[in-house]
Amino acid sequence: MRLLNKKALVTGASRGIGKAIGERFLAEGAELWGLSAGEPADLAGRIAGAGGKLHWISADLGDTNAVEGIIEAVQKEAGGFDILVNNAGVTKDGLSFRMSIADFQKVLDVNLTSAFIIARTVGREMIRKRSGSIINMSSVVGLHGNGGQANYAASKAGLIGITKSLAREMASRGVRVNALAPGFIESDMTAAMSEEAKGKMMEIIPLKRSGKPEDIASAALFLASGDSSYITGQVLSVDGGMFI
Ligand SMILES: NC(=O)c1ccc[n+]([C@@H]2O[C@H](COP(=O)([O-])OP(=O)(O)OC[C@H]3O[C@@H](n4cnc5c(N)ncnc54)[C@H](O)[C@@H]3O)[C@@H](O)[C@H]2O)c1
Repeated sequence: MRLLNKKALVTGASRGIGKAIGERFLAEGAELWGLSAGEPADLAGRIAGAGGKLHWISADLGDTNAVEGIIEAVQKEAGGFDILVNNAGVTKDGLSFRMSIADFQKVLDVNLTSAFIIARTVGREMIRKRSGSIINMSSVVGLHGNGGQANYAASKAGLIGITKSLAREMASRGVRVNALAPGFIESDMTAAMSEEAKGKMMEIIPLKRSGKPEDIASAALFLASGDSSYITGQVLSVDGGMFI
């Protein structure tokens, strides 16, 4: 029970990586506030073994003007958070020369701007309490780029910049800020890839398998818990060795 009596906010918790993180945090004793876009609140029931320790927020993180107010209200109700995982993310892929500015901006709004707003809103309270762990979900694409994903790569690279800057700003107040950079993880986001693209991906993964959301959840638990108490401002790749 590494997160007993801890309160965690996880965005994008309805499926995939965020859901696995939520389940793992609950199993380790945390009280969880899960946020996702537009899904009905009863979807929360799909998270196993939650009991009364799960609260659900439906909110569109694409509406950057509304985010601060929503998170402030949730935070007030929760009495502050010990852990934040900025995990919600979208893709709107296309070659740069054809990509509409609307598609570029949409990905930046959800993946980067809202994550920044949430981090500083939750971070203010963490600073007041002199403790907390913030985890931003970046990607190997934020570290290395990817053809057809200039918007997504910019958002994920931006998250790394925010992670390192916030880590410097908050370290003296007992708050740690780190990022995870998953590689090729089985989820709805990657299910749409062609078999050919998946095959090419497998060729460059030394561990010779795709990752599972649970692989990311284990790393998130490490960064959320006291096990990583001397680690801040870091980007932890969880990619099967894709970019050794
Ligand atoms: N799957 C991978 O291979 C992979 C690799 C690297 C990084 N990531 C990152 O991990 C995170 C989770 O990815 P996943 O594969 O589980 O994706 P997913 O598509 O299965 O889940 C995305 C989650 O984000 C939420 N979300 C999307 N748009 C939102 C919005 N506008 N407002 C609120 N919530 C919104 C969804 O409701 C869902 O809960 C993302 O940030 C993604 O970029 C994934």
